[in-house]
Amino acid sequence: MLTEVGLNPHGGENMEKIIRNDTCIDLSEKVAVVIGGTGSIGEEISIALLKSNASVVAASRHKNSISLRLNEFLENSKKISYQKVDVTSEDSIKKLYGVVLEKYSKVDILILAHGIQIRKPFLKLSIEEWGKIIDVNLTGTFLVCKYFSELMIKKNQGKIIGITSLTSKFGIRDISAYASSKGGMSMFLKTIAIELSEHNININMVAPGRIETKMTKNILSNEEIRLSNLRCIPMRRFGLPSDIAGAVMFLSSNSSNYITGETIIVDGGWTASMGNIKK
Ligand SMILES: NC(=O)c1ccc[n+]([C@@H]2O[C@H](COP(=O)([O-])OP(=O)(O)OC[C@H]3O[C@@H](n4cnc5c(N)ncnc54)[C@H](OP(=O)(O)O)[C@@H]3O)[C@@H](O)[C@H]2O)c1
Repeated sequence: MLTEVGLNPHGGENMEKIIRNDTCIDLSEKVAVVIGGTGSIGEEISIALLKSNASVVAASRHKNSISLRLNEFLENSKKISYQKVDVTSEDSIKKLYGVVLEKYSKVDILILAHGIQIRKPFLKLSIEEWGKIIDVNLTGTFLVCKYFSELMIKKNQGKIIGITSLTSKFGIRDISAYASSKGGMSMFLKTIAIELSEHNININMVAPGRIETKMTKNILSNEEIRLSNLRCIPMRRFGLPSDIAGAVMFLSSNSSNYITGETIIVDGGWTASMGNIKK
């Protein structure tokens, strides 16, 4: 809610000036596109970018996935807008690219926060389910980067930040297609980080541990799974979307200008402890 951050809920033309900047990162004059900008993590990132004075385009397939909280920002600030995109369609990505080009003529920050997951043992996974996950998480990442990095190359600057997963590095049961897509996404982004480094484009990743979001709502509603997961997390809590947004903001800022092809793991110490269970 806007009132949470001390904003006038009725907004108005001074909205941009009123938005509090929690991050102390100034992204004035920057244009950011957040793919999956209506998801729990994408929304938090979109709002954090807006609070740092960036102009933000939040994109996803369904307008009805916009939360009431995000909607308040969309209704009250001219610096944030919503656009439809389905990353499994090249035409749809081209359309989004056209809108951003026409409105801003550039993109400085591209966030890849889209994603889907199907949870079942690989022996029960159909070829259609496998393909769907690879299409959205991996091929979608390739296509979005292909179009938007062209714009960054023209301006000789840019930041691309992919939200990957611990599964890009570690095996976790029952999500083989998702893990494969995230492992692929991670290697794809590392590779293009090298290819685009001469254009002053930084490409990095944030790998979340267990974050409480729409995606994890079902699994974390199981008390047994909740507790067994919590036992493996030294900080004894699940992550919040704002924990991910914090790392993304650093990677979006000039403070990270000499970092590329890297991953920041944000997991409350889960992997640092090698999953050791506290007695
Ligand atoms: N939550 C966690 O614990 C966790 C852990 C590791 C990694 N991650 C990653 O973090 C990212 C965000 O996840 P989340 O937890 O915030 O999930 P979420 O709330 O389900 O958000 C997913 C977002 O992706 C969008 N999306 C899905 N399919 C799309 C498509 N074909 N084209 C464009 N947009 C599409 C969704 O919007 P529409 O449905 O409207 O298109 C939504 O905005 C994902 O990449 C996820 O894999 C999450």
